[in-house]
Amino acid sequence: MRRTLPVIATLLALGFGGSALAEGHEARMVHPDWSFAGPFGTFDQGQLQRGFKVYREVCSTCHTMNLVSFRNLGEKYGPFWDEKHPNPNDNPYVKSIAAEYDINDIDTDTGDAMKRKGTPADRIPSPFPNEFAARASNGGALPPDLSVMAKARHGGADYIYSLLTGFREPPAGLTMPTGMNYNMSMAGDLTTQWAGDKHHVPQGGFIAMKQPLTKDKVSFDDGTPSSIEQEARDVTAFLVWASEPKQTERKRLGMWVMIYLVILAGLAYGSYRTVWKNESH
Ligand code: HEC
Repeated sequence: MRRTLPVIATLLALGFGGSALAEGHEARMVHPDWSFAGPFGTFDQGQLQRGFKVYREVCSTCHTMNLVSFRNLGEKYGPFWDEKHPNPNDNPYVKSIAAEYDINDIDTDTGDAMKRKGTPADRIPSPFPNEFAARASNGGALPPDLSVMAKARHGGADYIYSLLTGFREPPAGLTMPTGMNYNMSMAGDLTTQWAGDKHHVPQGGFIAMKQPLTKDKVSFDDGTPSSIEQEARDVTAFLVWASEPKQTERKRLGMWVMIYLVILAGLAYGSYRTVWKNESH
């Protein structure tokens, strides 16, 4: 007993010491209420439309969304889904958005490279001709494709929202690497760059992306005031939708399966009662 007590005390101290240290470095994570969270959550179509606008006017100057075709935008529960046009290829809004983009193609008569207007079947084109051009424009860093970003990062929607709202002026005492920006929600350990109190190392890390959003950067067609938080929330919802466009359908199907199972269980119980009604137990 006399020997175990100090061991336990040491273990506890180590444990607490360890977690206190970890706390100092932990990146900031915000948890907004999402309409699509939970088993019955659904996307808010107005939010998806605003989010697409933010992607298109801000993020798409650097980030691709290689897996998304214009027609996806008009699919069931998507940003521009319209019951009147069950086939998104016929959706006039989807067609007009696609037509606003120039697509690189080959002239089949001459074999020459040419540009043509986009159609619903085309994917959202890349802002850069290739990866080298993308890096060259971003100080060597490659802006990652955003098609499935909401699934690729730990924390998903919360992480993307936190990152977009986590840019701050670097605290005095933090040595900034060239071309980098300070973000409270970026993973990292700033101990070696920190000249201040070692017990109060700033949370977060460095990222090559500059704060892409500013107040009123995007003007929303539905009159929603355009703060950084609003833009971040809407574009995050759009990225979550893009990472799993069939999410709402999946959840609805799940709900019907549950209702079916409950009815089935009721029937089974009823028939059990009937079958055993006159039997003594
Ligand atoms: C001027 C170019 C530029 C714009 C505009 C831009 N980004 Fe980025 N973004 C980058 C670069 C470069 C990186 C890679 C950063 C790095 O590797 O440090 C990046 C990284 C990211 C990441 C990944 C962070 C991680 O965990 O690795 C996300 C998510 C992201 N951007 C989302 C967005 C969203 C959403 C928008 C629009 C609101 C946007 N970006 C606008 C250049 C840009």
